[in-house]
Amino acid sequence: MQAIVDLRSDTVTRPSPGMREAMANAVVGDDVLGDDPTVQELESRSANLLGKEAALFVPSGTMSNTVAITVHTRPGDEVLMDADAHSMLYEAGAPAAIAGVLVRQFHSSCGVPNVDEVARSIHHESLHTPRTALVVLENTHNVAGGAVIPLEVHERLYGICSSEGVRVHLDGARLFNAEAASGVSASRYAACADTVTFCLSKGLGCPVGSVLCGDRLTIDRARRVRKMLGGGMRQSGVLAAAGLYALDHNRRRLADDHRRARRLAETLSELPNAEVDLASVQTNMVYFSTSAPADRWVTALAQRGVLCLALGVHRIRLVTHLDVDDEDVERAVRALKDVSASVV
Ligand SMILES: Cc1ncc(COP(=O)(O)O)c(C=O)c1O
Repeated sequence: MQAIVDLRSDTVTRPSPGMREAMANAVVGDDVLGDDPTVQELESRSANLLGKEAALFVPSGTMSNTVAITVHTRPGDEVLMDADAHSMLYEAGAPAAIAGVLVRQFHSSCGVPNVDEVARSIHHESLHTPRTALVVLENTHNVAGGAVIPLEVHERLYGICSSEGVRVHLDGARLFNAEAASGVSASRYAACADTVTFCLSKGLGCPVGSVLCGDRLTIDRARRVRKMLGGGMRQSGVLAAAGLYALDHNRRRLADDHRRARRLAETLSELPNAEVDLASVQTNMVYFSTSAPADRWVTALAQRGVLCLALGVHRIRLVTHLDVDDEDVERAVRALKDVSASVV
């Protein structure tokens, strides 16, 4: 039986033998009591990597964003974010339910916000208006197809927000993909935000975890909010060890995922009944539209051993990652051609 090529998400990776060995050998302690040296090492390495004072290991990207939004705001404040941001669409309403904030959306073009529009949306507190306390940015931008937000956009927006007393949180779930695609270091993006989170459990191939980085006072407050949400973990060094391994071994290979996504996108661009915007394929994601219903493509591809997700009636997403090699991509290319010729 042929192995499955799983292109549903970069979250489907399984820890490699080297990662499992690092996890098995981790020195651990009770991290809520401040006793886990491996978690502490991951937090200090992450903070250094992003040029921040401190960092906090959290179980997921959703918790990291929720903790950040909570520490930067008070209930009744307003948070500005893209209408297609992950925190807007896919975090179960956590900004409203947990932080108690009002979310106001701005619109982006291919994931890139219009800085002037965001600046115009900032409210100062008055008898009538909520205070705009925070802007959330996402890089790479998932729903925009893994698009990279240019550094200049971050710089301009951060300049405006800082002078207006508005904080900036960067959802960098895939920040290292942005780094690999643009050649701009993750720390330069991070310098344009008060807090930044990155995920270990996506392109970096870990089973669990994200890291939130920022100044010491903000991260101290974040640690308390994490505890409140039930995210204080005990011997979590076994998970942090996977994170340290990933930073050493899996960060520099992300460009391979991007090259493979490009190969899939170029194949799709030549098929008569699929449409892909090649300019939007900048990292490890390929979103494309189909003239036939997307679920028929998904079923037909699954029958050929290739898994992907329908994210709309005619929209499909393919994501490359650590567990997809060149041979897998060529299998997916053959399956896409085959399905395109047979599904109407
Ligand atoms: C941009 C972005 N932010 C945050 C998250 C949330 O991460 P998690 O699934 O670990 O909660 C995701 C998940 O896919 C994401 O794509």
